[in-house]
Amino acid sequence: MHSTNRGADLPRLKLVQNHPDVVEFLAKADEYLGTLGYTEHGARHASLVAHIAHNVLERLGHGADVSELAAVAGYLHDVGNFIGRESHPQSAAVIAYHVLRELGFNPAEYAVIMGAIGNHDEQLGNPLDPVSAALILADKSDVHRSRVRDPRTTAEDIHDRVNYAAERSFLNVDPAGRRITLELTIDTTISGVMEYFEIFLSRMIMCRRAADFLGCSFQMEINGVKIF
Ligand SMILES: [Fe+2]
Ligand SMILES: [Fe+2]
Repeated sequence: MHSTNRGADLPRLKLVQNHPDVVEFLAKADEYLGTLGYTEHGARHASLVAHIAHNVLERLGHGADVSELAAVAGYLHDVGNFIGRESHPQSAAVIAYHVLRELGFNPAEYAVIMGAIGNHDEQLGNPLDPVSAALILADKSDVHRSRVRDPRTTAEDIHDRVNYAAERSFLNVDPAGRRITLELTIDTTISGVMEYFEIFLSRMIMCRRAADFLGCSFQMEINGVKIF
């Protein structure tokens, strides 16, 4: 799912992606997090999370409408980061409110999207409905080499090292087996599997809760080996 960008299939997602405030805020959020030393959080991450969240719900048989809401929540979830990292889920939810009202989304739609965005962070967030659960799974599964801004930082930064080591990450949704598997291919000469768990354990626990909410088990496979 990493290379897909199928905005054309989702016309309302396209409208959101092209909204001038969204374009500006997302660029600013990515720039701000770049100065703080975070991995890529711009249009690439937003698009990817949008499409993974959409696919999770679509594959599990949720309707096209609710899957589209997950895509929009995915695109907007990190748009508040330039206002401050700490409360970015809440600021992003408020930004989404204004943008989505302007684009003609109805209150029931933007309420679901705002709730999902406000609950995507592993510190304080909780899956509350299928859209928020799909957003959590999509966001937390984006671990990938392309998120590292400068490979020279991998020696001293564990987040950059783990992301840089991840050559492939794929969220495999098996509707028949009600199973969601995060498949990772990690170059263990760059970062060991233990380092991955050192920084991502809380995210994986949140993924398990989100999968549970969708009536699925959550599994992880690293380099072809089932971890749990
Ligand atoms: Fe976030
Ligand atoms: Fe994110």
